[in-house]
Amino acid sequence: MKKEVVEMDFLSFYGFKHTPFVKNLPAESLYESQNCREAMGRLRHGIDHQYMLALVGEPGVGKSTLIRRLATCLPRSSYKLIYTSQSGLTPKWLYNSFLSQMNLKEEYFLGPAKRSLQNELKAIAETEKTKVIFALDEAHLLDRDTLEEFRFLLNSEYDSVSPVSLILIGQKELLYKLSLKEYRAIHQRIDQKILLEPYDRSDVERYIRCQFQYAGKEKQDIFTANGMDALYTCSAGLPRLLNRICNNTLFYGMQQNKKLLDDMDVQYVVEHESLRDPCDA
Ligand SMILES: Nc1ncnc2c1ncn2[C@@H]1O[C@H](COP(=O)(O)OP(=O)(O)OP(=O)(O)O)[C@@H](O)[C@H]1O
Ligand SMILES: [Mg+2]
Repeated sequence: MKKEVVEMDFLSFYGFKHTPFVKNLPAESLYESQNCREAMGRLRHGIDHQYMLALVGEPGVGKSTLIRRLATCLPRSSYKLIYTSQSGLTPKWLYNSFLSQMNLKEEYFLGPAKRSLQNELKAIAETEKTKVIFALDEAHLLDRDTLEEFRFLLNSEYDSVSPVSLILIGQKELLYKLSLKEYRAIHQRIDQKILLEPYDRSDVERYIRCQFQYAGKEKQDIFTANGMDALYTCSAGLPRLLNRICNNTLFYGMQQNKKLLDDMDVQYVVEHESLRDPCDA
């Protein structure tokens, strides 16, 4: 109850209808930077050609969110996107995770699990004409055995046809890992590497405007230009950090009864709440 009262105060103080900078923003209200648009275009192209793709970027840059948006853009009648995000998956676990998401029976042994998934993919390709996409998040945490399995998943008809497209999503370490000698066979099969970049200064401003629009406030008149500069530098252009800093600064503004927030306010909050990115030198 107390929390709800605070939330109401917060909304009315700034004239918001919805709370901005939240994790569960509806897909249609997400911000789309030029880099995001290009990444989305490459994902769509890769999916249509049943490619193996790697989507990489720093923590909090928006990789999983981009896949969430992709899932809402793809017509359900022609695409089946199976998303899984588990660290430490063993090969058997991987197959069973895909099987269960496709509402199929899980198997106790690796061999039957693999065969069951391959048969299902073949049947889908022949009868439903649906394109299947496996999106595997946190892929930088997978071990070699599990990553190796993708070779089998992607191969069909003597390695001449790919029955699915695969998106490996992970932090930049994924590319480093795949560049090692023991991963050569997988590395060679990656058709495209897509890098999601942090926002630049003008993206940060557009991102914040987009969040305020979602909140029901047409005019961006809360952060001054200097405040925006500080938001950009302190967040390193990473939306997850940007959300935390904006939220905390807005809260601070409400407590100080300030409706216009500048660089001093942002920096005060960042320093006092230790919000700076540890990688930010
Ligand atoms: N395009 C966007 N529009 C609005 N908010 C976004 C957008 N992209 C990211 N965010 C916000 O940033 C947060 C972090 O994004 P996300 O979880 O996609 O990052 P990530 O790159 O997958 O990070 P990690 O590597 O830690 O998994 C999201 O929870 C969301 O609140
Ligand atoms: Mg993620």
